[in-house]
Amino acid sequence: TPARTLVLVKPDGIARGLVGEVISRLEAKGLRLVAADLRTLTAEVAETHYAEHRERPFFASLVEFITSGPLMALVVEGPRAIEAFRALAGATDPVQAGPGTIRGDFALEVQNNIVHGSDSPESAAREIALFFPDLG
Ligand code: CMP
Repeated sequence: TPARTLVLVKPDGIARGLVGEVISRLEAKGLRLVAADLRTLTAEVAETHYAEHRERPFFASLVEFITSGPLMALVVEGPRAIEAFRALAGATDPVQAGPGTIRGDFALEVQNNIVHGSDSPESAAREIALFFPDLG
């Protein structure tokens, strides 16, 4: 059975008009969209989504950023979807991300790095349930 991952096009990606670019790249790779929703997160959902970063010095800034405007939440499916999307996204720090990756091509700052992708099967299950509780 194909794996699923949660992808977010963050508010910086929406503001810069990169939704189509991100979806084009993941579809071109062979990944498939299962769900998509444009929404603005509440602080509560943002804090739950990023709970593992609660003690980090950038947590408050991250929550402010991720709730600053609409984001596009996507559930994406395919063989090794988690690893496949993380390869498309590139390193968390866009300066370290290689050219040809989403972050490498479009971002310069570690916080404003255009996309999020789940980092493990456990994270994917938790994040998909948080964003799309009706998905089986
Ligand atoms: P993401 O992959 O969504 O996971 C956690 C997010 O926190 C990350 O992308 C960045 O947006 C942000 N982040 C990670 N490290 C830092 C940092 N050192 N400073 C600011 N933001 C960060």
